[in-house]
Amino acid sequence: MILVGGIGTRLRPLTYETPKQMLPILGVPMIECVMDTLCQHGITDAVLALGYLPDQFIEAYPSGVIGGVNVTYAVEPEPLDTSGAIRFAAKFAEIDETFLVLNGDVITDLDITKLIKFHRDHGAQATIALHAVDDPSRFGVVPTTPDGRVIAFVEKPPRDEAPTNLINAGTYVFEPSVLDRIAPTGRVSVERDTFPELAAEGTLYAMPDDSYWLDTGTPQAFLQANVDFLLGRFRNHLVKDVVDGCWIHPSSTVDPSATLINSVVDRNCVVKANVVLEDSVLLPGVVIQNDAQVRFSIIGHHAVIGAFSNLGATCVVGASVHVEAHSQLSGDVRLGGV
Ligand code: GDD
Ligand code: MG
Repeated sequence: MILVGGIGTRLRPLTYETPKQMLPILGVPMIECVMDTLCQHGITDAVLALGYLPDQFIEAYPSGVIGGVNVTYAVEPEPLDTSGAIRFAAKFAEIDETFLVLNGDVITDLDITKLIKFHRDHGAQATIALHAVDDPSRFGVVPTTPDGRVIAFVEKPPRDEAPTNLINAGTYVFEPSVLDRIAPTGRVSVERDTFPELAAEGTLYAMPDDSYWLDTGTPQAFLQANVDFLLGRFRNHLVKDVVDGCWIHPSSTVDPSATLINSVVDRNCVVKANVVLEDSVLLPGVVIQNDAQVRFSIIGHHAVIGAFSNLGATCVVGASVHVEAHSQLSGDVRLGGV
């Protein structure tokens, strides 16, 4: 089960038009990267727990196959939060055996087989994959006993109050019995309701893992995902044709005088003379006028960056926005609305 119904607040304005997991990494929608990895691990069937802009997923994959996995679409009538979404999608897909749950905005090469074995060996009701991070305050923090039993689940604590730097990596193994304890209607959170209850009961386990892991949900993390793919830090066979640390779709035009470093130019873009692009992503249809410089920024579909502009960390330019010539922008800049 893949949770993909969040509204992507931190990636606005891009997510006003495109759900987070349909944003492309090197031209491939993120959901496809996630499903492809699952396919490599032998997963054949999945249900997508959808809520926000569901038609974009359904229309992009009319055959019902994403990254080699057969999918069904469970569309929530209203946002049900993470446990509510799990309850709804499980009923929709008639799940009655051990199943996996994934946050659909996470790129990882976690060994799922190992996680399932750990879950079975511990006789757990649910098992969480853990990842060590420097700043746990953005995540669910999960202290455990040495044998992996979860002592507490603390969602997004203040940085100085986090009991450990091991965080919820957003991949879970669930027994169907967990479904019976989720309240039957309305919004329920797996992080704030279900996991703390299971932890108190002593039936929730967690397995640390040090494979590649990234939650792509902020502009900085989305850029990081792209750069990691470009530099081969995460390998995915869907990603091809990276040249000198950059990926340029063949339908795009880049002037030979432009300088590109660790950047992505998606389809139908135009990059004019003397432009500098560094650690940046141009989504389809973007135009960068001559002598503009764009660093550590994401430029949304069909946006235009005026000549001699200078965009620095971290600008997120929404779809069809026109940035005037000679603009100077940096800091946490978001341009464009609904
Ligand atoms: N179907 C559905 N319905 N999906 C939802 C809903 C909902 O109402 N709300 C959120 N989701 C999906 C999002 O699309 C995303 O894939 C996943 O649930 C997690 O939501 P995020 O909004 O990305 O949460 P987060 O990144 O702040 O925190 C979560 O992920 C961290 C790891 O990446 C938590 O699970 C943390 O505990 C965890 O550490
Ligand atoms: Mg997230």
